[in-house]
Amino acid sequence: MSVYPIIMAQKSFTHKDNLNYPFEERGLQFGDGVYEVIRIYDGAYYLLEEHVDRLFRSAEAVKIKLLFTNEELKALLLDLLKRNEMKTDGKVYLQATRGSAPRDHVFPANIPANFYAYVQDQPRHSEKLEKGVSTITQRDIRWENCYIKSLNLLPNVLAKQAAKEQGCYEAILHKDGVVTECSSSNVYLVKNGNIYTHPATKGILHGCVRMRVEKFAHDLDIPFIEEGFAVEDIEMADELFLSSSTSEVLPVIKVDNQQIATGKPGAITRKLQEAYEADVKQRQIQFTK
Ligand code: PDD
Repeated sequence: MSVYPIIMAQKSFTHKDNLNYPFEERGLQFGDGVYEVIRIYDGAYYLLEEHVDRLFRSAEAVKIKLLFTNEELKALLLDLLKRNEMKTDGKVYLQATRGSAPRDHVFPANIPANFYAYVQDQPRHSEKLEKGVSTITQRDIRWENCYIKSLNLLPNVLAKQAAKEQGCYEAILHKDGVVTECSSSNVYLVKNGNIYTHPATKGILHGCVRMRVEKFAHDLDIPFIEEGFAVEDIEMADELFLSSSTSEVLPVIKVDNQQIATGKPGAITRKLQEAYEADVKQRQIQFTK
């Protein structure tokens, strides 16, 4: 996954080799920051507004003052793609931290936030999207404010690694027996024609793709029920799928070595994948106009 040469640093653009942080940096030392990952298809952002809005919500929740307005950031991010002549499928990673300051838990006074954003290629997971993926289940040991897209990802990293070590793609997390989400995606169970997923409380990330899945379900007349399902419900599921900016709408065919239904992606998951595809195309037309 190659990183494009021009990155955004603070409010301007520079070559990626010029980015230099002191070791006393709040993001590095405390994970004191927030981030976003935005999907790019054919050189155009998908769900740019939604991600930028969420970045502002996350920053506000942890009292980090960003250097720009919402509108300014969107314009800068569009410029970032132009400057890199980005034309492929990829993603932008952006993060804001509380800045560079001598290490002290207390917020530093009058220090500007640090910000950077860079673009990289990310081909779509065509084979996984077609065939589905295997997952494990893990206890959700994260804090209470998972709706904030914080840099503190250690529990997520450990869960994803556990999945990888068992030959799986994702870890489905559960708290007190109720499925919350996955290490880096939202998760849904289909039963008797209904979609069930954890409500958008403070306990999960309010995924941008999740918002679209809700809309697609509405458009397709499929009940979208924001009710957490239990780990024990999984073995009786008709279908299971994930969503995220990098995973899109991804069928799950195995959980903890147990096959889901026929072991093949289900009909509702397929309909949502089609709706996703159509949405990507429509959004691109809007941005290239
Ligand atoms: N992950 N839940 C968690 C814990 C996530 O980290 C993500 C995104 C999602 C899905 O959010 P969205 O639909 O807005 O991408 C849900 C990104 C892709 C990541 O950290 O790489």
